[in-house]
Amino acid sequence: MSSTSRDGFTNKFGVIAAAAGSAVGLGNIWRFPYVTGENGGGAFLLVYLFFILLIGLPVMLSELLIGRRAQKNVFGAFRTLAPNKPIFMSVGIMGVGAAFMILAFYAVVAGWTMEYTYLAITNSLSQMGSAELSSFFKEFQSSTTGPLVWMGIFMILTAAIVIGGVKNGIEKYTKVLMPLLLVIIIILCINSVSLDGAEAGLAFLFKPDFSKINGSVILEALGQAFFSLSIGMGVIATYGSYIQKKENLMFTGFSVSLADSLIAVLAGVAIFPAVFAFGIDPSSGPGLVFETLPNVFNNMQGGYLFSVAFFVLLVIAALTSSVSLLEVVVAYFTEELNMSRKKSTIIAASSIAVLGALCVVSDKAFKVFDWTSSNILLPLGGILIAIFVGWVLGHDKMKNELEAHGGKVYLTGVLMVILKYVAPLAIGAVFLHGLGLL
Ligand code: TRP
Repeated sequence: MSSTSRDGFTNKFGVIAAAAGSAVGLGNIWRFPYVTGENGGGAFLLVYLFFILLIGLPVMLSELLIGRRAQKNVFGAFRTLAPNKPIFMSVGIMGVGAAFMILAFYAVVAGWTMEYTYLAITNSLSQMGSAELSSFFKEFQSSTTGPLVWMGIFMILTAAIVIGGVKNGIEKYTKVLMPLLLVIIIILCINSVSLDGAEAGLAFLFKPDFSKINGSVILEALGQAFFSLSIGMGVIATYGSYIQKKENLMFTGFSVSLADSLIAVLAGVAIFPAVFAFGIDPSSGPGLVFETLPNVFNNMQGGYLFSVAFFVLLVIAALTSSVSLLEVVVAYFTEELNMSRKKSTIIAASSIAVLGALCVVSDKAFKVFDWTSSNILLPLGGILIAIFVGWVLGHDKMKNELEAHGGKVYLTGVLMVILKYVAPLAIGAVFLHGLGLL
């Protein structure tokens, strides 16, 4: 496969926007608050941020450089870079599996977001109080037709963008819209923080209560870090394969991780003060954002416009992430199984939609997919990716790829120690401890 036949990103901002478009999504605005709420707040946030820095960033850099070095999807990448070490092929296999699972429940939640966009446009929630909003969400979520139809529409949109190809499909949408989403979230933060009773929410998020920490909380924090950064299954490696040599991968990795963590924390600031001000249970699970934010819109100036803009942008943020997930599967089908892009996309999207339908009718399936992908598959992929760069590729080739843009990069020695020892051992320990095996 010649590298010129592959699609590529046009410029630096395009690369960062697309990778950030993958990272920033429902994971930041839906999953982060709900998982933080279920795991006790502040202490969870600290552990989460610690994992982003210690493990997330190094694994993200590893994926970027693996992809760009091999110029292939993650399967082909490991085959090229480690021809007789089949163990690393399991990153690709688990990755395709994880993409199926994640996209299945992701499309369902994106469907909820689309329903809420519709409700925002038709101004249907503005007369409801907090209790009513909660029961409204629960009723909607446990119904079948609405969630199913929206999930299907979302999958069709995702597939349509993926068929369009990387450059024209992804880059175009993310450049403008992600910064806009950030602005809206900041405005929501200001409104949320000024609610009566907001302090309790800020204290919940920022005052760590370390008695809340245990093995499963730590594992959830690690899983959330992987999920939010889109790492551990080759999504970022696939993007890396489209990044030109002249780009500085360190810079890309740092910018994306920073933007992603910032948006998650800001989403927390927008949500938790309102959770407490409106008497919602912070551990109410996957419905948290949908039960909470309409209260904020109902109590702010221009709430109608902001609610419409927010939900529309959230759907788009979800799309730029789901596109990256489907892209992994499609890259595998097209480059490994020699199928056409269109055919692979249609096959992949429709089989994932079947799993999505399973998540609509079964909360159990939803939870199993959500928990297993983030807390098992992604961290396992992360261990292999770290070991691969640390032990197989080695320091010199890693540094060489990181410096391919012609500049100098620093701290490659530290990065190497993290990838060789710290990340695999830490992930392994968190993993075993969280599962009660250590
Ligand atoms: N990171 C995305 C989010 O926060 C979800 C996502 C997209 C993802 N691609 C991924 C998660 C790959 C894990 C792996 O919404």
